[in-house]
Amino acid sequence: MIALGCDHGGYELKQEIMAWLDKNHLEYKDYGCFSTEAVDYPVYSRLVGHAVADGECEKGILICGTGIGISIAANKIKGVRAALCSDCFSAEATRLHNDANILAMGARVLGAGLAVKIVDTFLNTPFSGDERHKRRISLIEG
Ligand code: RB5
Repeated sequence: MIALGCDHGGYELKQEIMAWLDKNHLEYKDYGCFSTEAVDYPVYSRLVGHAVADGECEKGILICGTGIGISIAANKIKGVRAALCSDCFSAEATRLHNDANILAMGARVLGAGLAVKIVDTFLNTPFSGDERHKRRISLIEG
């Protein structure tokens, strides 16, 4: 199960991502927001971050205008490793090296075509499991 969240800046792109997930028969839970009316992005970081950190969802996708605020807020939650990606190389690397569990994107940065490729890469790249990466991740957790 994939947890989805956005603010008003990310609402339209989230609709495109949901259409792509539907087409690919991938299950998701939408934690809002549910319109383009202005909202506060940390609210959705928290909802999606806890869904992932508590094991309710395996991965999450967060979208705001830049992807910056929503990823900063998500990374405050213990167990969350949110990666802001604007390219497929980073989406692949953050799964392989960081075992990132949340993908953050900026709707004012990316077109929908690239965004779904980034989602595809993120969801379909496993963690490498390499000892050095496990050690570094455990150092992040403190
Ligand atoms: C909202 O205008 C905008 O600040 C937000 O979507 C995001 O870009 C914050 O980092």
